[in-house]
Amino acid sequence: MKMPVRLNKFIAESGISSRRKAEEFILQGRVTVNRKTITELSFKVNPDEDEVFVDGERIKQKQYVYYLLNKPKGVITTTDDEKNRMTVVDLIKTNQKIFPVGRLDYNTTGVLFLTNDGNFSNLLTHPKNKIQRVYEVNLDRNLEDDDKSTLLKGVYIEGEKGVFIKVEFPKIKDRKRLIVTCTEGRNKFVKRMFEALGYTVVLLNRISFAGMNADIPLGTYRKLTTLEVKNLFKNYAK
Ligand code: URA
Repeated sequence: MKMPVRLNKFIAESGISSRRKAEEFILQGRVTVNRKTITELSFKVNPDEDEVFVDGERIKQKQYVYYLLNKPKGVITTTDDEKNRMTVVDLIKTNQKIFPVGRLDYNTTGVLFLTNDGNFSNLLTHPKNKIQRVYEVNLDRNLEDDDKSTLLKGVYIEGEKGVFIKVEFPKIKDRKRLIVTCTEGRNKFVKRMFEALGYTVVLLNRISFAGMNADIPLGTYRKLTTLEVKNLFKNYAK
C-alpha cells in the first residue's frame, strides 16, 4: 500500500497542474475526495484507495515506468525525429509518454534507460553523480601504450578535460578492441576522446550503465524491476 500524500501533490503528480495551481483548485472548492468537497490544503489522500475528482473528472496518480533497452544500430535517441527516422521510443510498447535517459548515437548499441520519471532521469544524467558507463570499443588501429596512459590521465575536449577511469583489452593480442569505463555523459564523449588522439571509433556498444548490464538480446527491452529502480534511487539520490 502506498503512503498517504497531500492532496495538492497528488493532483500535481497526475500531470494536470502544478502544486500551486492544485492548491488553488482545492481552495476554490473544485476538488472532491470520495465525493466530499475538500478545501483543506493539508488534506492527505491514499493513492490506492481514494477517488479524487477535479471539476468532476477523475484524477489518477501518474504511473511511473522504467525500461532498459538494449539499443540496436540505426535508431535515434530522441522522442521525435523531424526526418521521421525510427526513434528509441518507437521500440517500446507503452501508452505512457516516455523519454530516453541520456543518449546514445544513431549507430551506438547497448544499455539505454527510458522512463516517464523526470527525477529518475535527472539523477542518472547529472554530472555530479558520476554515473559509471562501460563501453566496448573497436578502433581503426591498435591503441598505443602511451595513448592508453594519456586517456587515463585526461584529454581536453572542447576545453574541458575528460578521462577514462579504466581501459582494458579483453584479448591481450588484439589492441583494437577495448573496454573503457568512464563517468561522463558529454555528447559523443567516447568518440571524441579517441579522436583527440587520432583514432576513429568503428564500433561502440554500451555494455553497462549505472551498474545495469545489457542482459537481454540486442533490440529488445524489459521493465526494470521495482527493486532495481529502488536501488538506483538509493545509490544515487543523496
Ligand atoms: N560516446 C559516444 O561517442 N557515443 C555514444 O553513443 C555514447 C558515448
